Amino acid sequence: MHVFHTPLTMSPVESAFAGLWLMLPALVPNPAAVLLGGGRPIDLGKSWRGTRLLGDGKTWRGFVGGATCGMFVGLLQVGAVESSELGDAWSFGPWPSALAVVVCLGLGSMLGDSMGSFVKRRIGLDRGTKAPGLDQYNFIIGALAIVILFRFTWFEEHYIEGNAAWGLVALLIVVPLLHRGINIIGYKLGKKNVPW
Ligand code: CTP
Ligand code: MG
Repeated sequence: MHVFHTPLTMSPVESAFAGLWLMLPALVPNPAAVLLGGGRPIDLGKSWRGTRLLGDGKTWRGFVGGATCGMFVGLLQVGAVESSELGDAWSFGPWPSALAVVVCLGLGSMLGDSMGSFVKRRIGLDRGTKAPGLDQYNFIIGALAIVILFRFTWFEEHYIEGNAAWGLVALLIVVPLLHRGINIIGYKLGKKNVPW
């Protein structure tokens, strides 16, 4: 049986930072997609039951670019942890499992983002309209779902048994603020039609 080796010596604040650190590959894709997005929509303009499958706000460039940026940041983090004194609480696990975790977080994030738009279109909300809650948390829900599905042991070690659980609390607060800030920047850069 695998035993998680990080004792509960971290303060809640330090634990929250560890939990946020481990979710960074899932936080990067959304803003990256805003910057890199554009061009051909994922749904190729197709509709289902009268409304667009995903809409013009979900493009291949945004999806691939966003997921790639998240995974790239994750790989930099894996390297940083390996060449530092940071403990297990900050680790994506041993190689190559760490790579799988990073891929799950980056891809899961963009899948969640697309899923959010799918849901919005089904309930009749046009591209760019507000869906409070869904807009802010879709990508984090997607990343958690995929990592729980494919890398449950890692998730359990950190967010259930480990003290990164504080990170989930921190995410609830940090994610909406981050989302708001990024969207204002995207709007100012002319990448988004609305500042939310
Ligand atoms: N974007 C993209 N491709 C993605 C995700 C995002 O090109 N897969 C870009 C689009 O320019 C999009 C912007 O990032 O308009 C902001 O993303 P988001 O707020 O998720 O999209 P919305 O335009 O608000 O559309 P929706 O209502 O479907 O969320
Ligand atoms: Mg939006």
